Amino acid sequence: METQRLTYTRSSSNEIILGNDICKEVVARVLRLRASKHCAILTNETVAKWYLQPLLAELRTRGMHASEIVLPDGEKYKNLDSISTILAKLCDDGLDRNCPLIALGGGVICDLGGFAASIYKRGLPLVLMPTSFLAMVDASFGGKNGINLAGGKNLAGTFYQPVLTAIDVSVLRTLPLSQLAYGLVEAVKHGAIADSAYFRFIHKSIDSIKAKQINLLQRLTRRSIHIKKTFVAEDELDHGIRAHLNLGHTFGHALEAAGNYIRLHHGEAVGLGMLMALKASQSIGKLEEDYSEHLTHILTELGLPVKIPSELDKKSLLNTLSQDKKKDQDGYRFILPQALGKTFIHKVSPDKIEDFFLTACDL
Ligand SMILES: NC(=O)c1ccc[n+]([C@@H]2O[C@H](COP(=O)([O-])OP(=O)(O)OC[C@H]3O[C@@H](n4cnc5c(N)ncnc54)[C@H](O)[C@@H]3O)[C@@H](O)[C@H]2O)c1
Ligand SMILES: [Zn+2]
Repeated sequence: METQRLTYTRSSSNEIILGNDICKEVVARVLRLRASKHCAILTNETVAKWYLQPLLAELRTRGMHASEIVLPDGEKYKNLDSISTILAKLCDDGLDRNCPLIALGGGVICDLGGFAASIYKRGLPLVLMPTSFLAMVDASFGGKNGINLAGGKNLAGTFYQPVLTAIDVSVLRTLPLSQLAYGLVEAVKHGAIADSAYFRFIHKSIDSIKAKQINLLQRLTRRSIHIKKTFVAEDELDHGIRAHLNLGHTFGHALEAAGNYIRLHHGEAVGLGMLMALKASQSIGKLEEDYSEHLTHILTELGLPVKIPSELDKKSLLNTLSQDKKKDQDGYRFILPQALGKTFIHKVSPDKIEDFFLTACDL
């Protein structure tokens, strides 16, 4: 088992442990938090089926009592009703501020757990145990959480650091391949913004990744955590350098929204968004190294789209883009690739956005 620590300039810190089949060690760490012997586990029905009992058994063996909160599975439950359910259960079972909340699941459960832990009695010790690859490389550290509102995704939430992120890569054995692919898109993005060797390694290893070689997935997780860490540690509250992690996301969000969040999954949209960012950078003469072909190869191998679905109308894409959170008074901010492992911020004024966007759509 390996350990990394994410220390923020605001003086908070998040211990991250990573290993294969580490349930016992995770529980030992939870006990070392010197928190209460009563904890809550938040999970969903799918993940509970595989991983709730072993965790409960280990906690019980070590004298801990756990309240169980098992939600239905799905992004549509990342809402205020689920937060109410969680808070009511914490309250009914008498959890106090020293009782850890353990979120065991994908990004949805990590986001719900983070939000609930941050507001119940003004903050419980939060332990994230990500079980999807996306949550391992992205959603389980960095301190963001949130829920969706009727008006859009992730519109309510807080910044709240877990005390412990415990990543057991052995659980990836049961993760569907499509879900692995969605997480891998974020790992590819990490390579594209900061580490060309990592990008090339993913490109070269795609068959072994698809075969879910656990040691390899652990290696990728380690590298991705390290890269995201370097961006978030300096910019915990997302005012500056953290923006580079949005490569492919401004275009991607427009694609997701234009397809009503049904036509394209976030991972599919971000993959396409990165291809669009390459096109856009080329069109303004800033792309020094074009890696579209390699990216297309990776996405295709993962069964992800490399063309914008024809039913997504360009005008409605443009409309959704204009509602993006990343827009400020002087226009739109895009993260664009300059070369493999290097990105830059590019501003586009509102009068230029249509041309800029339509060129990027031309994949
Ligand atoms: N807070 C952040 O920094 C951050 C970053 C990225 C994404 N997110 C959020 O994360 C969410 C997406 O996360 P996700 O892709 O993990 O989705 P998810 O949580 O819905 O998980 C995907 C699916 O995989 C299943 N699953 C998870 N682990 C499994 C396992 N080991 N075996 C079998 N099935 C398993 C889940 O039950 C679900 O059906 C979005 O809501 C997104 O907004 C948050
Ligand atoms: Zn993303």
